[in-house]
Amino acid sequence: MIKKDEIIWWASENFWKKSAIFVTGLMTLVLVLLTFDTVNKITAGSKRVPAYTVINNQIDYKYNKTRNMFEPVIGSESPLFGNMLTAEEAEGLINLGKLTIQAKNCMNCHTLLGNGAYYAPDLTKAWLDPGWGAKSVRETLMLNFLMDPENNARTFGTNRKMPNLGLTEAEAKSIIAYLKWMSSIDTNGFPTNFKTIKQ
Ligand code: HEC
Repeated sequence: MIKKDEIIWWASENFWKKSAIFVTGLMTLVLVLLTFDTVNKITAGSKRVPAYTVINNQIDYKYNKTRNMFEPVIGSESPLFGNMLTAEEAEGLINLGKLTIQAKNCMNCHTLLGNGAYYAPDLTKAWLDPGWGAKSVRETLMLNFLMDPENNARTFGTNRKMPNLGLTEAEAKSIIAYLKWMSSIDTNGFPTNFKTIKQ
């Protein structure tokens, strides 16, 4: 039988107990630090997630050779529905859009930033979708579509139609603001193979 004092230090039970406590403690700390880091990066007004007032500007989607992916480029003034909004107004509008999207459970069919379903098109870059024809008519077409998706259906050859969700005009406009803001987020090129509207 091996006597206790014959066991080398790194094979002792005591050493492994202490290591387990130390590693758990260290990793908890790392997790806390990473959480702060992530929250910083996903907050509106940070490098990748523009402030809500970005909806007052044109949003382009351009290929960046160095990064080998498409990235949003914020351009000159181009207010949504012709209204320049203050930071507070833009935040209020986008918040209403978010709440409406949650209340109507759009993610049951659609995907936003990687969450949701793939029954219907990914909405992350829907604002930049060439399906809207041209940027000059996009806002109106989106509004008409959201208010009455059955009669403005395009279906993209899938035969799938979006049901009428009974949105008010204010709700539909707030959703468009939300989608415009979302299209300005740098998502590392996701969704991939996305073609953009001619700006
Ligand atoms: C029952 C499934 C379903 C639900 C729920 C649903 N949609 Fe859709 N949606 C579709 C389908 C199918 C299409 C594609 C057909 C079409 O464009 O006519 C579509 C298309 C769209 C488009 C056009 C996308 C593009 O890039 O051209 C937008 C924008 C949109 N939906 C927004 C919404 C919003 C906002 C909600 C929640 C308020 C919602 N949808 C809820 C099924 C759904």
